Amino acid sequence: TNIPVITIDGPGGAGKGTVSQILAEKLGWHLLDSGAIYRVLALAAIHHRFAPDDEESLVALASNLDVKFEVEAEKALTHIILEGEDVTMTIRTQQVADMASKVAALPRVREALLRRQRAFKELPGLVADGRDMGTVVFKDAAAKVYLTASAEERARRRHQQLLEKGIPAKIDQLIAEIQERDERDTNRSVAPLKAAEGSLFVDSTTLTIAEVVDQILEFAHGKL
Ligand code: C5P
Repeated sequence: TNIPVITIDGPGGAGKGTVSQILAEKLGWHLLDSGAIYRVLALAAIHHRFAPDDEESLVALASNLDVKFEVEAEKALTHIILEGEDVTMTIRTQQVADMASKVAALPRVREALLRRQRAFKELPGLVADGRDMGTVVFKDAAAKVYLTASAEERARRRHQQLLEKGIPAKIDQLIAEIQERDERDTNRSVAPLKAAEGSLFVDSTTLTIAEVVDQILEFAHGKL
């Protein structure tokens, strides 16, 4: 069977999560937030007190990870359950993001998570959000998108999100953290962050979410 896939890759804070969720809803397709899988692994690793370079332990953990994605029937929210515990919110911290990008640099860890990610490809279709969706995991996807924004704009959005949650943060520090994670994701030897061949390049710095969604839908319609 030919199951259509749209991949959305790009750095953190470019709006991939929101855009992917809207696209999946509009199309009535499944959604893969692959970053959440790396974050869940990172959280489990922190719980186990594994070092970020302890590849042996991390590969074993990745292979046996007990994670479930529970989509609420009415609401758009997907609950992420690690070993029976709802970690939807706890995987969103900076500490977890940082650990995620470290464990994600290990080749065998990525390998161990491949099948789990590919299992999301089911009828009627899939929107896959991440760093290597179009370059590695769903290489044969019909429509590939690279969504980015300037580091300053991504930091500004992150700052806004944190303020809304009542969490104080400094813009300068956020920019530094974003640049550090970008650098690690872009320069790693396996599955580095880069635009897949033939992908639509979208810079969301000065675009609204609706404008980004429209551009992608138009591009995808021509491809599917
Ligand atoms: O997208 P998100 O910020 O949730 O991803 C967290 C981290 O997981 C990223 O910084 C990246 O290192 C890693 N990741 C990855 N490959 C993906 C998705 C996320 O390496 N497909």
